[in-house]
Amino acid sequence: MCGIFGIVTDKEQTLGPILIEAARRLTYRGYDSVGAATLNGKSIDLRKDTGRVDEVARQYNFAEMTGSRGIVQLRWATFGEPSQVNAQPHLDSDGDLVGAHNGNVVNNFELRQEFMAEGLTIRSQNDGESCVHAVERYVNKGYDFLDAIRLAYGDLQGDYAFVIGKVDDDRLYAIKKGSGLVVGLGVGFTCLSSDLPSILPLTRQIVRIQDGEIITLWADRVELRSVKDGKVIRREPEIVTESMDAVQKGGYPHFMLKEMHEQSQVAREVLHMLAGSHELQGVIEKMRTARNLYFIGCGTSYHACLSGAVAFAQIAGRVAIPVLAPQFLPQYLPAVNHEDVGVFVSQSGETKDVLNALQAAEARGMTAYGLANVIGSTLTKATVCSLPLCCGYEISVPATKTFTNQVVTFLYLAYRLAEKDTAELDRIPDLMDETLKMVASQVAVIATEINQWNDMYCLGYGGTYPMALEGALKIKEITYTHCEGMLSTEFKHGPLSAVTDKFPILFIVPPDDVPLILSGINEVTCRGGRAIAIGEEDSRLRANASELIVLPKATPQISALLAVLPLQMLSYHISVMRGFDPDFPRNLSKTLTVD
Ligand code: F6R
Repeated sequence: MCGIFGIVTDKEQTLGPILIEAARRLTYRGYDSVGAATLNGKSIDLRKDTGRVDEVARQYNFAEMTGSRGIVQLRWATFGEPSQVNAQPHLDSDGDLVGAHNGNVVNNFELRQEFMAEGLTIRSQNDGESCVHAVERYVNKGYDFLDAIRLAYGDLQGDYAFVIGKVDDDRLYAIKKGSGLVVGLGVGFTCLSSDLPSILPLTRQIVRIQDGEIITLWADRVELRSVKDGKVIRREPEIVTESMDAVQKGGYPHFMLKEMHEQSQVAREVLHMLAGSHELQGVIEKMRTARNLYFIGCGTSYHACLSGAVAFAQIAGRVAIPVLAPQFLPQYLPAVNHEDVGVFVSQSGETKDVLNALQAAEARGMTAYGLANVIGSTLTKATVCSLPLCCGYEISVPATKTFTNQVVTFLYLAYRLAEKDTAELDRIPDLMDETLKMVASQVAVIATEINQWNDMYCLGYGGTYPMALEGALKIKEITYTHCEGMLSTEFKHGPLSAVTDKFPILFIVPPDDVPLILSGINEVTCRGGRAIAIGEEDSRLRANASELIVLPKATPQISALLAVLPLQMLSYHISVMRGFDPDFPRNLSKTLTVD
């Protein structure tokens, strides 16, 4: 997730150290490139490259940068690989405007074509550059600067926040549409940022910006206007009293909880991104005509592959083979050829097991696509096309938002393959928020009640089977409890013997399969076990299960996706109750680059 910071001061001065520190305080968001620009009324000084903040700042001597206004940006690649030219900020064609954004402009490709046809100078593939040209085109047509920004807002589709300055001016301007943006008010300066950590060391007086607002910053004041009608909006500043640590976690006690609550927003972003992708149709056609289609990953990403295979078969009637990456080599590699297509799924894009499978598959001629969160990672470079997960940085070791966006992406691909209207999927973000609200207090109580157990099962069927595996993995990973994920119908074939009084078993019930799951539930409850059902409101489940965690009504595939949220939440609560740190479970690492 990129980060932007901008500052307007009342005199020309050395701004470099302020910009470096602001950038350092946004690094928790994840990034691959760093750039800074200062403006002094006559010229723009722009320095940027790929690398860590301290390295790039040292190499390009950011510390000496002077001006009365400054912008710094951390880039997390989505459009265009990590490179100096794609790093932000960007200049307009003549070099008298400079801007940077945070987020994704999903019609970047189309806009670039338009800008080129209009004779503007395009230097990179990055969508941040498109934001600058989107303003420039209206300035060239003679519009006042503020109006040019308002018109640009109408052209830039997606979720982003954008800051821009022009050389012969004393202000910075920003707009917000979907990504975070906060303004800080200090003595002799104002500033803005994607997030509070870069503002709080300078001032604790802030104004939170809403979507559809355009902001003008002078050194001594800010003005908010509605993009829609240009009218001034009055909003009193607030004083932030939270600690820096709490602020970085967005007020949540752990990154995992914060990231779970970000799931709806990142789902919205990936859906926008997929809708705007010009590469997708080619990928879909290739999948349609492939001899065999493989979905390959490890751990949580493998569970997304399983879920994707269910969605492809149920929605598009297309068989896909989900496979754990290391097993791909002995089991399938000998049978692979150039008619086959593989989707290699990895949050980090660096998992050695996945890269080994990818290398071997490509050597046999397979067409390999990637599904990764870290653009610029080895996986994204090695595949013919890689779809971004658009989750921003996931700090917590247990994957949450990257998993749900992997599942959302597979669902979207299945809909497109089936030539089905994807509008239904646009409900997912709201349904996720609704689910979290509906289950929160009940899950917290259940966690207290089953916390004493060090052995449990999590069972699913059809589309909920991958979610059962994922829920069980989360519980194992951060509570250090043995929790086995299984197909619910398999439970009677052996594990049923483990059931004793109050033994906890989670049943994730697909809405269309209630009668079948009821048998499994009764086999457990009649032996004294505690059957915790997760599913839609249903009198049969109420009557037979020990309790029901209710999910909002949705299609079977979306309902399955929603079911993972209470399981993530349950694992989180048990972990915290046991005194563990869910963000950093023992013995584990976020990126597994070893065999
Ligand atoms: C569990 C988890 C891991 C990863 C696995 C693969 O919460 O995160 O199981 O899913 O190590 O990692 P990536 O997706 O980076 O290939």
